Amino acid sequence: LCVMGQILVTGGAGFIGSNFVHFLVENTDHTVTVLDKLTYAGNIESLAGLPSNRVALVQGDIADAAVVEGLVKTHDVVVHYAAESHNDNSLHDPRPFLDTNIIGTYTLIEAARKHDKRFHHISTDEVYGDLELDDLERFTENTPYNPSSPYSSTKAGSDLLVRAWVRSFGLQATISNCSNNYGPYQHVEKFIPRQITNVIDGVRPKLYGKGENVRDWIHANDHSSAVLAIIEKGRIGETYLIGADGEKNNKEVVELILEHMGQSRDAYDHVVDRPGHDLRYAIDSSKLRTELGWSPEYSNFDAGIKNTIEWYRDNEGWWRPQKAQTEAKYTKQGQ
Ligand code: NAD
Ligand code: DAU
Repeated sequence: LCVMGQILVTGGAGFIGSNFVHFLVENTDHTVTVLDKLTYAGNIESLAGLPSNRVALVQGDIADAAVVEGLVKTHDVVVHYAAESHNDNSLHDPRPFLDTNIIGTYTLIEAARKHDKRFHHISTDEVYGDLELDDLERFTENTPYNPSSPYSSTKAGSDLLVRAWVRSFGLQATISNCSNNYGPYQHVEKFIPRQITNVIDGVRPKLYGKGENVRDWIHANDHSSAVLAIIEKGRIGETYLIGADGEKNNKEVVELILEHMGQSRDAYDHVVDRPGHDLRYAIDSSKLRTELGWSPEYSNFDAGIKNTIEWYRDNEGWWRPQKAQTEAKYTKQGQ
């Protein structure tokens, strides 16, 4: 069991990292320092209202060894969320993905091993590549790595660095690979918030290709509770897959959003497909559930989508500044 105190959360101003910071403040006594570069994807408003005696923000780059070393030294646990996270961006400009996901992770694990700190690495199910639409197979901790995109290959590379640091240097690390998250504070470049905010703006949702690709949706709060369980009870050196049995194809998701927003279920357009578009992701999270006793709380996707729509309606001030430039980028790509 890991006794925590001061926790360093990288990428804590992003979508899932900020959810984890809120989760820690609400459910534990720990104090948190967020290390975040505040790229286009980071937003200090996502941490607004948190008590200043519990949460501090340092703006900095995880690939900056001096900044990282000073912070890792003075904290008990590092939870590493920071990443370039969007597949479409990685197809147009891969370099920042190498700098942050590979060199940034390397910089953090070097500091963690030097100061012998507990390290948890946040990763994705995309490292396993994709599954066929029509079989029953799901990813497990033993599925071979086979990433498809510049994004997922850099995440796979970062996972392998962490595994090597465990084996070669005895780094006290765990890894989790989670499926697609949704919920409040997700950047409008991502599928669900893009379509919700398009509908708010009177624009038709846009489905890549036929819309048959399947994603295994989990609410970000459930991702946070799983990560806390792994930090508290997970075995060093182990990988845990996080998922909530939420498989849906993209067409079903768009239809649900349209229905909840009072539109006709077919009021969407098909646009050019993503190159190399992964067909299906699906997680078998038995290890996490049986070994650590975790289970998801937000498994009603319909209710979760409804609440997420409400959140984007109520928090236009949070997403509006990002919307026009995000859509301008997509327009250039024909998407
Ligand atoms: P996000 O893009 O919303 O947030 C990323 C955060 O990292 C931002 O605040 C950004 O400013 C920060 N950041 C980027 N580069 C940095 C750098 N060099 N130094 C310091 N900070 C930097 O991403 P997200 O969707 O919240 O994903 C967080 C993590 O979870 C990533 O590691 C991602 O691979 C993983 N993950 C995401 C999903 C998902 O569905 N979004 C699913 C599984 C795993
Ligand atoms: O599986 C976990 C991964 O989920 C994370 O590692 C990534 O960080 C996260 O971005 C997400 O990757 P995806 O590529 O699955 O997510 P995205 O929101 O970009 O797209 C979800 C699906 O929707 C995918 O099949 C592409 C499709 N799509 C996306 C957009 C933005 C559309 O059909 N239309 C769109 O406008």
